Amino acid sequence: MVRAWYMDNDSTDQRTEHHRNPPKFLTLEELFDVSGVEYFKLNVNSYNSDGVLDKLKTDRGYTYEDEMTCSKECLPNYDQMLKKFFQEHLHTDEEIRFILDGSGYFDVRDKNDEWVRIEVVAGDMIIIPSGIYHRFTLDAKNYIKAKRFFIGEPVWQPYSRPADDMECRQIYLKRLAAGDFKAR
Ligand code: LAC
Ligand code: NI
Repeated sequence: MVRAWYMDNDSTDQRTEHHRNPPKFLTLEELFDVSGVEYFKLNVNSYNSDGVLDKLKTDRGYTYEDEMTCSKECLPNYDQMLKKFFQEHLHTDEEIRFILDGSGYFDVRDKNDEWVRIEVVAGDMIIIPSGIYHRFTLDAKNYIKAKRFFIGEPVWQPYSRPADDMECRQIYLKRLAAGDFKAR
């Protein structure tokens, strides 16, 4: 099950949990509120046939999907890739990940620019909005397998912070300010 919490500021190994002292967790509703990150729970054993993923794909217009495995063995340039994923960045489109196996951390900036760490495990699907600053790392287990989705032709291009002048960033900030992400 997914968990989300505010991070401390220490810069030791990125693959540990980095809780604040005392720990401060967020519910999924709070996470949505402060960042616009959406969450769906899927069944890894039946997603092919139970219709839940199919409905999501139809509803949200996901026309592209692929699968990627991230581990020392499977990823060429493993160290380089991990460093790149962990650089704070944004995209012009949503980042959609459905975890099939393993685990990892997506870190996203909340509306006060604080890091929230989202731990994802098998069955978790998260949607990171376009224009939000974020980063990814494996945890100490060093392994994740996930499906990626996209509306139309995929664009994976990351834009490193600062990218404040980009239109998608401006739109995201407007949506946050307007309360677009408040759970109804
Ligand atoms: C990505 C993750 C690492 O952009 O944020 O693929
Ligand atoms: Ni990204």
